[in-house]
Amino acid sequence: MDPSVDVRVRGQVSDEELNVLHTLAFGHGPTTVPWNDRLTRHSLTWVTARLDSRLCGFVNIIGDGGAHAVLLDACVAPDLQGRGIGRVVVRAAAQEAKRLGCQWLHADYEPGLVSFYEDACGMRSTAAGLLQLLEVS
Ligand SMILES: CC(C)(COP(=O)(O)OP(=O)(O)OC[C@H]1O[C@@H](n2cnc3c(N)ncnc32)[C@H](O)[C@@H]1OP(=O)(O)O)[C@@H](O)C(=O)NCCC(=O)NCCS
Repeated sequence: MDPSVDVRVRGQVSDEELNVLHTLAFGHGPTTVPWNDRLTRHSLTWVTARLDSRLCGFVNIIGDGGAHAVLLDACVAPDLQGRGIGRVVVRAAAQEAKRLGCQWLHADYEPGLVSFYEDACGMRSTAAGLLQLLEVS
């Protein structure tokens, strides 16, 4: 990874920066998610990556207050993908969850991301379940 990428645990980030990054990385429409409110109220930790002060990478981790943590919203700006930023932010988040006392870090991902999560980030495959509770239009 480019050594000038600044990776921070609980890095400061504005709601707008995160909405823009998430929109670009996941390819959905514009959003107005109150990220800071969510992060401060519900996250165990999160990791930001910046290049020349621009937010280019992010991952969120929520916890159960005990052994389990769940990794969400890993994203890297499309023009900077494939340069090792995703691997570094996920590994930094995992290290921080471990430091905070978590024993297990869970993630679910599409088949196309197996290489990223398992080869690059060190996760192993396991059976898991997902139940859709609400339809959001
Ligand atoms: C998934 C994502 C976070 C990876 O970030 P990244 O910075 O591009 O990944 P890295 O450069 O650290 O990749 C590390 C390795 O993972 C693999 N990898 C990365 N992205 C991949 C992808 N989209 N599909 C398959 N493999 C991928 C590569 O093989 C790479 O290996 P290499 O170092 O041998 O080239 C980024 O592509 C992204 O934001 N995607 C869109 C949002 C998304 O789907 N997030 C995941 C939600 S579960």
